[in-house]
Amino acid sequence: MSSSIVTVRTIADLRGHVTGWKRDGESVGVVPTMGALHAGHLALVEAAKQRCDRVIVTLFVNPKQFERADDLAAYPRTEEADRQQLAPYGPDVLYAPTGETMYPQSFATTISVGGVSEGLCGAHRPGHFDGVATVVTKLFMQTQADVAFFGEKDYQQLQVIRRMTSDLDIPVEIVGVPTVREADGLALSSRNAYLTAAERGVAPALNRALCRVAEGLVEGQPASKLTADAIEEIRGAGFRDVDYVEVREAGTLRPIERLEGEARVLGAAWLGKARLIDNVPAFPRAAAGGNG
Ligand code: PAF
Repeated sequence: MSSSIVTVRTIADLRGHVTGWKRDGESVGVVPTMGALHAGHLALVEAAKQRCDRVIVTLFVNPKQFERADDLAAYPRTEEADRQQLAPYGPDVLYAPTGETMYPQSFATTISVGGVSEGLCGAHRPGHFDGVATVVTKLFMQTQADVAFFGEKDYQQLQVIRRMTSDLDIPVEIVGVPTVREADGLALSSRNAYLTAAERGVAPALNRALCRVAEGLVEGQPASKLTADAIEEIRGAGFRDVDYVEVREAGTLRPIERLEGEARVLGAAWLGKARLIDNVPAFPRAAAGGNG
């Protein structure tokens, strides 16, 4: 069954659509993706549809953000299934450029964001955030979107994109959309497809451990002890390796030991072939709201 979403592959075709919309005074939202869509992506499309007159979903498996050739080769490519999933959500255009359109042979520019891209995934995936920042900048220039929607599941990526957009004065508003989870807490991710049935049973342990860190912070316990315990817990549950569990200030991603303002507890760990990442917020009691 084919869908009615218009698929465009060239910058000229994309610009043809966008120019017409802008001439009519319509706002344009973009949802950048690498395909292999799941309910987390569809929540981004829903948010974009609510906020913008026109919505572009981009689909491009960006080679520059993969530090390992085997990871890039194994990444799921499911364009027709993606189109079918998108159809009921009614985006105006699926922009699925070719590799040559995005990176012609002469391509020689890299966008590199300091500060927020250091540590966490930045430390374990060298070059990853340069690749993300470079492709997202290109997608912003190509789509000329007014608003862009990203999942909070990739929390460090979201902060990198916020910093980059602000530093480069790119006229696009960045909207973070809360993580969509399975009933047992596992964050939806295209990489969950790599899990065996047994690993799928183990996977929610990552979220449970991060939530326990957040609870401990709210009770006044120090981050260093809580994160060390969480790493033990994740390993004990059956993960083969833990890249990190850390507590950071929510906006700057500066490491913190005690909860003073809004914080994020972030973790990344390996389960079989899958590297799973997740994060949860932690708010000091007074900032959590309530009537007292
Ligand atoms: O989050 C993703 O899927 C990718 O990193 C993004 C933002 C589409 C850039 O390739």
